Amino acid sequence: MRTIHAAVIGFGFMGKTHTYGYKTIPLFYEPNFNIHLAAVCAHTYEHALAAKERYGFAHAAHNLDEILSLPDIDVIDICTPNALHTEAILKALDAKKHIYCEKPVACGTTETRLILAHPNLNKVVTQTVFNNRFMPAAKLAKQFMQEGKLGKILSFRAHMIMPSNVDPSSPMRWRNSRQAAGGGVLYDLGAHVMDMLTWLAGPVKSVYTKNQTAYASRPDGKGSLAPVDTDDASYSIITLANGAVGTAEASKLATGKNTDLFIEIHGDKGALKIDFMDANWLYYYDSAAPYKGYTRIETVQNYGGDKNFPPARHPLGWIRGHADSLYEFLRAVNENRPAVPSLADGLYVQSVLDAMYQSAQHNREIVL
Ligand SMILES: NC(=O)c1ccc[n+]([C@@H]2O[C@H](COP(=O)([O-])OP(=O)(O)OC[C@H]3O[C@@H](n4cnc5c(N)ncnc54)[C@H](O)[C@@H]3O)[C@@H](O)[C@H]2O)c1
Repeated sequence: MRTIHAAVIGFGFMGKTHTYGYKTIPLFYEPNFNIHLAAVCAHTYEHALAAKERYGFAHAAHNLDEILSLPDIDVIDICTPNALHTEAILKALDAKKHIYCEKPVACGTTETRLILAHPNLNKVVTQTVFNNRFMPAAKLAKQFMQEGKLGKILSFRAHMIMPSNVDPSSPMRWRNSRQAAGGGVLYDLGAHVMDMLTWLAGPVKSVYTKNQTAYASRPDGKGSLAPVDTDDASYSIITLANGAVGTAEASKLATGKNTDLFIEIHGDKGALKIDFMDANWLYYYDSAAPYKGYTRIETVQNYGGDKNFPPARHPLGWIRGHADSLYEFLRAVNENRPAVPSLADGLYVQSVLDAMYQSAQHNREIVL
């Protein structure tokens, strides 16, 4: 059985989340390949060493070049702050490594072009981590859209909202700095919103966006205030190529919420709704049914196949979608086929987000 050797670059929230995936995939799926946690890289050697010792990586390093010089690495798994993604992608492509990269893939159009122009882009397996696609309710929604159950798509609303920037005393983090994050909440949460929307309902024709920054500065952790140059919330009117019009919101100013990802799509024959705070169900409305109202279709933990572990009837959690996303990537590496969504798919979403920033900056509709 083949062994896939993975190196995790950046070991914070997502480094841990992806490591959970590598460790649990053998339990969830009993795959026909082995996974080796070959290396971990963090901003300091001590941090990487702690991850190595606690989670069983074979090697610890604090720079990517050292990781790339190791003889047995197949996969570069990028979990660093956004502004570090492109350099890591380009180096991994130079070294012909397979790439699993967190969203947003790149920061701005110049970086996007550099990645798309790389001669090795289609010679390795690449995947963007749009983990929400891998929730069972999202998969069934995609199937319903492909089957044309909604008819002609007319309108939609989509949002990902949480409260993490509501408190003005919460300190500056890399996510509040354009230099480290490339953008604000629109990059961070808007990437998920626009991926889910375009994956389900089709590509974007135009965007009209207004962004909001609630506080001009935040404590820098050293007793002073640091200027905030990123958005805390973003509100858009989106027109799709198929003519449908609707709204998209990404916000960290949503007091009272948790991590609410919500998509509702209305067609001339029906409608569907995904609410990931209520992730065990897909809500579907059939205009032709002899009754009115949304039907709640159970999707629970149904990942299909005869090795459905744990049994589908158990309630679902967010991290399970991450594990399924990673499994799609590792299977593609093992089978030497393209993975979906690829880096190019991630860069399409990036082009939409960059158009949204352009729209907010110039206060006008931008046609893609
Ligand atoms: N798909 C999702 O559900 C999801 C959720 C959260 C974050 N993300 C994305 O994941 C990425 C990481 O976010 P996070 O929440 O894990 O951030 P984080 O701050 O928790 O962790 C970032 C890690 O990167 C490491 N790092 C910083 N500079 C480095 C360098 N030069 N070399 C190596 N490592 C370095 C740090 O050690 C830190 O541990 C971001 O791009 C973010 O948008 C995705």
